[in-house]
Amino acid sequence: MDKRFYVTTPIYYVNAEPHIGHAYTTILADFMKRFHEMLGYDSFFLTGTDEHGDKINQAAEKHNTSPQEYAERYSAIFKKTWTEIGIGFSDFIRTSEERHTKVVSEILQKVYDKGDIYFGSYGGHYCVGCERFFTEKEMVDGKCPDHNVKLQYIEEKNYFFKMSKYQDWLIDHIGKNPDFIRPERYKNEVLAMLKGEALEDLCISRPKSRLTWGVTLPFDSNYVTYVWFDALINYVSALGYPDGENFRKYWPSAQHIIAKDIVKPHGIFWPTMLKSAGIEPYRNLNVHGYWNMEESKMSKSLGNVVTPGALIGKYGNDQIRYFFLREMTFGHDAKFSETVVVNRINYDLANDLGNLINRTLNMAKKFFNGAVPPFVPEKPAGREDIAAGFKIAADGYIAGVLSFQSSVGLEKLWEFIRSLNKYIDETKPWQLAKEGDTGSLSSVMRNILECLYGIAVLLSPVLIEKSGPVIAALGAAGKSKKIEDLLTLKNLDDGAQLGDTGILFPRLEKEDETKKPAAKEEKKPAQKPADEGLMVDITEFGKIDIRVAQVKEAEKVEGSEKLLKLVVDSGLDTRVIAAGIAKQYSPQELVGKKILLVANLKPARIFNIESHGMLLAAKKDKKSDPILVIIDDRIPVGSRLG
Ligand code: MSP
Repeated sequence: MDKRFYVTTPIYYVNAEPHIGHAYTTILADFMKRFHEMLGYDSFFLTGTDEHGDKINQAAEKHNTSPQEYAERYSAIFKKTWTEIGIGFSDFIRTSEERHTKVVSEILQKVYDKGDIYFGSYGGHYCVGCERFFTEKEMVDGKCPDHNVKLQYIEEKNYFFKMSKYQDWLIDHIGKNPDFIRPERYKNEVLAMLKGEALEDLCISRPKSRLTWGVTLPFDSNYVTYVWFDALINYVSALGYPDGENFRKYWPSAQHIIAKDIVKPHGIFWPTMLKSAGIEPYRNLNVHGYWNMEESKMSKSLGNVVTPGALIGKYGNDQIRYFFLREMTFGHDAKFSETVVVNRINYDLANDLGNLINRTLNMAKKFFNGAVPPFVPEKPAGREDIAAGFKIAADGYIAGVLSFQSSVGLEKLWEFIRSLNKYIDETKPWQLAKEGDTGSLSSVMRNILECLYGIAVLLSPVLIEKSGPVIAALGAAGKSKKIEDLLTLKNLDDGAQLGDTGILFPRLEKEDETKKPAAKEEKKPAQKPADEGLMVDITEFGKIDIRVAQVKEAEKVEGSEKLLKLVVDSGLDTRVIAAGIAKQYSPQELVGKKILLVANLKPARIFNIESHGMLLAAKKDKKSDPILVIIDDRIPVGSRLG
């Protein structure tokens, strides 16, 4: 079978500018497209704007303009935003385009001719924000649960789609295709709606006396179609349904991405519409959670919007892409804060990846005049283990991403990136150079360089700006990008000239979001050094064994907000310590980090943990949060301070 991949985002309403919620879905879709292309799939990525309906009409009226003009303006803003942040959509559909309205008419006629649309009277509770009716059961205190506004009771004669006719078919289809809607929790949500009670038929029209901004029904020119019947069809109209080559090629592989707010239209309206129109269902509906800001859902009405352009301008495109894809667990909500952005950039990108690339290139410059050293078979320097580790990481990354779990996939790759830093610490190339073991040195460096090339290729769908320069700096531009080739660790040329990437991901100062702007901040005097009387002499100081250790495992301590239980490698042994840094650091972000350890402190019992030593962290004063001291990665684990 041909490898094809068709990915879509929701088409966004044009009543407001794009915010980071829209950007997340669009970046995820862009990443998925590039990722599949990397795996050799022929891919197509559709996004666009949803322009008809009450919502846009009302917004246009409020701004004293026509819905056409209003839609035009905002649609252009979406398109420009996506282009500016490097989104490589294959097509951008607007529901006001003729190529779309034509298909909506055709499908309406088809469904009507089949007897699945009837004229009737209906009264219901309507949410303009969601552009749909709510059942009594779905309402909360008479309000829309998403928009928290009182629902409008509308009663009028309209056209209805016999959705209930396809209820059993849909239950059956989901049963036979367990990942039709994923992750599982959203499949269960849809099944609960389907199995709970008979579906109400879907109101698909508005009388023109009330709304003209829509697609006229082909069988009654006094009516326009209701927003969802119009909007959902974009996914096939953009492909040139019914006879278009793209429809034939891509529709069978359709992967829709949406957030949890529009599960019902995509999980129930759309498959039943497709069934009635005689079109195969989409392959999968992929539902992600919401980005929440400061405990509340982020949307324009709540006023705490971060524009994608501003965010990317501040932190960098690759950095934000990585943050989004790594931070959100597929299907769950995630908390958006700039502190989390900065942590991801500093720890994952600057410390783990950027540092690995820089130190490797620097060592190659120093030990081999900046040329790719050969692999020396007699001194393989653990090449087999490295290759095996790389394969596990690449397989885990690919499997994670193919099931839309980008965070799981990226973590697999990062485990390997961290293990390469450890490999450098353990093989100590600088020592091999000193000892004149050129064979081992050469193999160590080549092993890492080959892995870096593989990693740069695997990350190219995420790091759309930096991956190319890294590949070029490895002297590997134009080399094979096939996964099976990457895994051989035989892609670079002996003697190829290595370049310089500069600092790929500059480390950032953490901004305290709760603080006043820096300019207004009062200057507090730094804590005074110890009083004269408490001074220690050099021999006393020499008794304290402070050394560089590495965190192997970390977990929260039940019952304590501040404490983490860490298992650390001190270079002497592996031991347990308790550290009061749980408020500033999550357990995951500490694993792999190097820390300063007071190794000869008498053991102490803290919260049921026997702590064998103390981690050192810096505090500006007693009230401020303890922050870990960044340790230059060239310092091997076990090195003593002094
Ligand atoms: N026009 C409809 C969709 C029609 S699709 C046939 C619509 N538009 S929307 O502008 O409201 O976009 C909703 C989508 O934007 C969500 O499903 C999600 O993809 C994205 N997001 C909007 N806010 C979001 C968050 N706070 N967090 C994550 N994604 C969010 O609904």
